[in-house]
Amino acid sequence: YGDPSQKIDYVFKVVLIGDSAVGKSQILARFARNEFSLDSKATIGVEFQTRTIVIEHKSVKAQIWDTAGQERYRAVTSAYYRGAVGAMLVYDITKRQTFDHVPRWLEELRGHADKNIVIILIGNKSDLENQRAVPTEDAKEFAQKEGLFFLETSALESTNVETAFLTVLTEIF
Ligand code: GTP
Ligand code: MG
Repeated sequence: YGDPSQKIDYVFKVVLIGDSAVGKSQILARFARNEFSLDSKATIGVEFQTRTIVIEHKSVKAQIWDTAGQERYRAVTSAYYRGAVGAMLVYDITKRQTFDHVPRWLEELRGHADKNIVIILIGNKSDLENQRAVPTEDAKEFAQKEGLFFLETSALESTNVETAFLTVLTEIF
């Protein structure tokens, strides 16, 4: 999980967005510290964590920003998106509404972020297959239409979390 004495070649800011309780903070905890908590509290304001990874012999410091899905706890939108080169738009595969809100998040993102920002759509909680409310195909089709990367993840089981970040960071690189 990164040697602090390492020299940094690049710093990439990546933002997490999506409805409340879809698992944004736990995806970040899994990626940054390899941790997961079932009684995660709703995020208030903005938090960020970093992890340095190596891509093609260069050290890339990923600075991942996490904010509240709940409107009343959200920080200033323009500051949140400023300088971001990647975005992870997360929904919960067991909550249809969180997927139905994806176009709104995308609109906000496109309204505030750089037009070349790399975006990945993430269907989280893939471990809850028996409660699935969003077919993989629906999300895949939407992502294709909008030109987004797409993956289903489980922060709980650690499935595809690493791949999701690497997809975004490698594409930025
Ligand atoms: P806000 O901060 O309010 O925007 O929510 P959030 O998107 O950050 O959600 P958070 O990471 O706090 O997770 C919400 C709940 O979902 C917590 O109880 C987590 O433990 C749970 N959770 C997160 N990821 C997963 C997952 O992959 N599988 C399962 N089963 N539960 C998860
Ligand atoms: Mg959170």
